[in-house]
Amino acid sequence: MTSSQSFHISDVLVVGSGLAGLSLALRLADNARVTLLAKGDLTQSSSLYAQGGVAAVLNSEDSFQSHTEDTLKAGAGLCHRDAVEFSVKNGPAAIQWLIDQGVGFTRETGSDGKSHYHLTREGGHAQRRVIHAADATGKAIETTLAARVRAHPNIQIREHTIAVDLLTRRKLGQTGENRCLGLYALDKQSGRVEVFSSRFVALATGGASKVYLYTSNPDTSTGDGVAMAWRAGCRVANMEFVQFHPTCLYHPQARTFLISEAVRGEGGRLLLPDGKPFMHEHDPRAELASRDIVARAIDYEMKRRGLDCVYLDISHKPADFVRAHFPTIYARCKEYGIDMTRQPIPVVPAAHYTCGGVMTDLRARTDLAGLYAVGECAFTGLHGANRLASNSLLECAVFAAAAADEIRAQLALAPAAAMDLPAWDESRVSDPDELVVISHNWDELRHFMWDYVGIVRTNKRLERAQHRVKLLRDEIHDYYRNFRINSDLIELRNLTQVADLIIRSAQARHESRGLHYSRDYPQLASRATDTVLMPE
Ligand code: FAD
Ligand code: SIN
Repeated sequence: MTSSQSFHISDVLVVGSGLAGLSLALRLADNARVTLLAKGDLTQSSSLYAQGGVAAVLNSEDSFQSHTEDTLKAGAGLCHRDAVEFSVKNGPAAIQWLIDQGVGFTRETGSDGKSHYHLTREGGHAQRRVIHAADATGKAIETTLAARVRAHPNIQIREHTIAVDLLTRRKLGQTGENRCLGLYALDKQSGRVEVFSSRFVALATGGASKVYLYTSNPDTSTGDGVAMAWRAGCRVANMEFVQFHPTCLYHPQARTFLISEAVRGEGGRLLLPDGKPFMHEHDPRAELASRDIVARAIDYEMKRRGLDCVYLDISHKPADFVRAHFPTIYARCKEYGIDMTRQPIPVVPAAHYTCGGVMTDLRARTDLAGLYAVGECAFTGLHGANRLASNSLLECAVFAAAAADEIRAQLALAPAAAMDLPAWDESRVSDPDELVVISHNWDELRHFMWDYVGIVRTNKRLERAQHRVKLLRDEIHDYYRNFRINSDLIELRNLTQVADLIIRSAQARHESRGLHYSRDYPQLASRATDTVLMPE
């Protein structure tokens, strides 16, 4: 597969090793030579930390119609019905594929004495339909699929290798139909930029929640795929819809840690510091309202009362039940001296999920021939203005299958991998003079995005953010052109790009819908439209 130390050739280059990337690589590997890039360890991803589970219609009390309706309702009028129906209908087969790979979802013995998969419940779902592996579903999925990928002879894995930018015919000044030809990627260990030439490239790079100061996401979520696709000329849609998860552990020593929505699904109540519940004042579904409503209610109560946090209480349930359903959360809280079987957990909202992304069709194709996008980095139309809980892992699994089918069908038709891609040019750069510029700008970006582009927005705040992001972009652009790149700079460049896309999308929406709430436009517009940004 490798023709020289810094020039690599494959049929399919998958960027990212979360659920989307691992399943796409595995599904294609019997038919194609696959290279899989991961900028960290193979399993390091949001997928690894997923707790609640995967939503799908898995028993006879549930129906495709019900799952479809719940998704459309959470999405506040913006979901694309075809994408919703496609995801819901293909959900059971995608789950079966995961089971066939060996993912050990939690089982229980039913009243009929038979063993079946336990389904939990989360906000916005009318039914129990979330299949899970206790409260560590992502770990079960990632470790199982990663082991399979490592064992497959047709998959070349490159860990600690970060994609920098896509290579396209247009960028290289070639005529004819524009097409993705591969990409440049930095080997983080050697510090060398290598060329990856491939007949097909699939972005599975996850979300961009690291653009906010407080986030449930790991360090990998820096919006790289969205930024790279945008720079390569692809449309990007609905970036203003950033999902803030209502309940992350609040503790001065804790790095943001998620307290799964399944805790509320299994009866957890949200309380003020004096022990009073408040969610029923905000929505008749109380704790089981959709995430946008719960996060906004918490934000409102915290700001109104000057609170540092609110509390999530499941201590009224039997301790054995709590420990059995939430072993990971129980153990983590215990590390910080909180016994959730006896006392409420302090919680705050944090940035959790990027609903917008690179526009694709139902076959995961982007605007650029040869380039696909799957998972959180993609915009398929499934989530609308607010993602329904546990529909993300569903989307990763369903669209990885769709992308694999499409790429397999194109294998005989697509051109061979290009052999004449230019090496990365470092002739005019020097070593960075002051690395503090990068860390300072990174902090500044995440602070002002939290303060000005958070749960509640105003025109003034967005203007302030836009002004600052422009200054940062100019400075980073300069730095990028003049100095040798490293992964912090690559990520900062992408995050700043994505921040700009989020702000521009938020400014373009003159209404409040789903996750986007503006004090200057509190009403819902009569017509629901996507915010589609066209590349310059
Ligand atoms: P990720 O899993 O984020 O993987 C991204 C991959 O891309 C990583 O391997 C990363 O290294 C790689 N990458 C990124 N940029 C580059 C680059 N430039 N070069 C090379 N590699 C790159 N959703 C649910 O449906 N159910 C849940 O229960 C649930 N719980 C969650 C709990 C937490 C704490 C979090 C953070 C999210 C949760 N979500 C849940 C959301 C869901 O986990 C994610 O949306 C989903 O896992 C995204 O998968 P992905 O494959 O698209 O991206
Ligand atoms: C959770 O377990 O609360 C996360 C579920 C999700 O993000 O879909």
